Amino acid sequence: MTQEDLFKNLIAHAKEYGFIFPSSEIYDGLSAVYDYGQLGVELKNNIKRYWWDAMVRLHDNIVGIDSAIFMHPRIWEASGHVGAFNDPLIDNKDSKKRYRADVLLEEYITKIEEKIDKEVEKGRKKFGDAFDEQQFRATNPNVLRNVQKAEEVHSRMAVALNDNDLDALRQLIVDCEIACPVSGSRNWTEVRQFNLMFSTQMGSVSEDANVIYLRPETAQGIFVNFLNVQKTGRMKIPFGIAQIGKAFRNEIVARQFIFRMREFEQMEMQFFVRPGEEIKWYEYWKETRLRWHQSLGLGDAKYRFHNHEKLAHYANAAADIEFEFPFGFKELEGIHSRTDFDLGRHQQFTGKKMQYFDPETNESYVPYVVETSIGLDRTFLSVLSATYIEEKLDNGEERVVLRIPAVLAPIKLAILPLVKKDGLPEKAREIMDNLKFDFNCQYDEKDSIGKRYRRQDAIGTPYCITIDHQSLEDNCVTIRERDSMKQERVPIANLLTIVDDLVSWRKWLGKVTK
Ligand code: GAP
Repeated sequence: MTQEDLFKNLIAHAKEYGFIFPSSEIYDGLSAVYDYGQLGVELKNNIKRYWWDAMVRLHDNIVGIDSAIFMHPRIWEASGHVGAFNDPLIDNKDSKKRYRADVLLEEYITKIEEKIDKEVEKGRKKFGDAFDEQQFRATNPNVLRNVQKAEEVHSRMAVALNDNDLDALRQLIVDCEIACPVSGSRNWTEVRQFNLMFSTQMGSVSEDANVIYLRPETAQGIFVNFLNVQKTGRMKIPFGIAQIGKAFRNEIVARQFIFRMREFEQMEMQFFVRPGEEIKWYEYWKETRLRWHQSLGLGDAKYRFHNHEKLAHYANAAADIEFEFPFGFKELEGIHSRTDFDLGRHQQFTGKKMQYFDPETNESYVPYVVETSIGLDRTFLSVLSATYIEEKLDNGEERVVLRIPAVLAPIKLAILPLVKKDGLPEKAREIMDNLKFDFNCQYDEKDSIGKRYRRQDAIGTPYCITIDHQSLEDNCVTIRERDSMKQERVPIANLLTIVDDLVSWRKWLGKVTK
């Protein structure tokens, strides 16, 4: 099965089991907007908590806030979003479809890279055990030609983006003979800049209306509260302010399910440091954030750093942590050294001093900032796509299983009475009433036990317990583990410890701090 087919199955699965629904579905949906269902919200909440606890609880110099989505419109002028938060767009005149010029070029480069990989695979098959990949890549003429081609396109694109040269960007698309995927034609318009912010009016009478924006990032809510938090929290540099919240962007190329949405959630942290120390902290946060991702056990090879060619208007260093989604390696989190740009601009626009008096150096300065900014929805997608498995079992049967890290699983324990009579449901309810204070449990008495196991596998429940007639006598149940499907008879009194051992926040978060 291709990755594309697997991804389609995953999207269908997410809907069928109540993880993610298209927004406004009964009105035919709203493009690039999604709702989280009854299990989706549990997984999302667990991801939020895993991030919040790792960032706020485990760092005594990081605190959290929850700022409003509506903010004074001048904030977005100061931050540069009104002037520079743009995407370069190009339209195909025949299909009338609109594309991001840089995305068209990146896809073109990806295709060249795929060609190189195919060539290497051909070599591997041809030479068998004697194959030396390094030597092959360094000498094969087809590989060398394609590597050079990809590098050329890449560097011309980087220069055009850096210089904001829209004509050069268009010329590159023409030179690469990139065709519209829909019409197949190369009949392109000019490249134009398009601002991504949504606007609305504040005030009840339209004449009095004030244009305000839906925030395109949560970060500015942190910057404008820098003094409030620093003073009331008596924070000493270096310190961080974290926030989880909605952000809105009028994305033109909105594809790939919840990867690129118009309404999404960010988990951001701004770390305020002494000027001159920002690169040290930037490196620190790159490593620390990578460790957080790796602690989830989705596979270390699924993550990689990508250093930015084109720095955003506020940064002096920036990198993405990319994740290998079913459609390739893409940005999951950004780590940005934002200098004193934001605080400096708010100081300039408001005339209020956004400074910190450093008792160690006896100096006042505008702190520098290192930001970590991760998409909650993208993290959700990374978890689902890495753990969705269509599995053939030894007995020939098939199952779909979500091997979600136990700490994030929406339901931790399924409680299944073998039959709906003979006092078994009552015994099961008694166990549930005890354990529901500790974990999210689900009671299910419908259908055969095999079908019930499959349902729990499909939603990623790490443990199921079955209550049978003997349970009434010996106070033991059968516990079944999701991944190994191994079953064991255990005392009911041990259940809390057994499940806790697998799902405990302490155990999982301990891996982040190592
Ligand atoms: N404050 C910095 C900032 O907003 P960004 O790289 O534009 O930086 C940070 O966004 C993260 O937010 C991204 O790494 C991504 O995970 C997530 N994100 C951005 N745009 C998104 C979108 N349209 N849909 C879903 N997630 C998005």
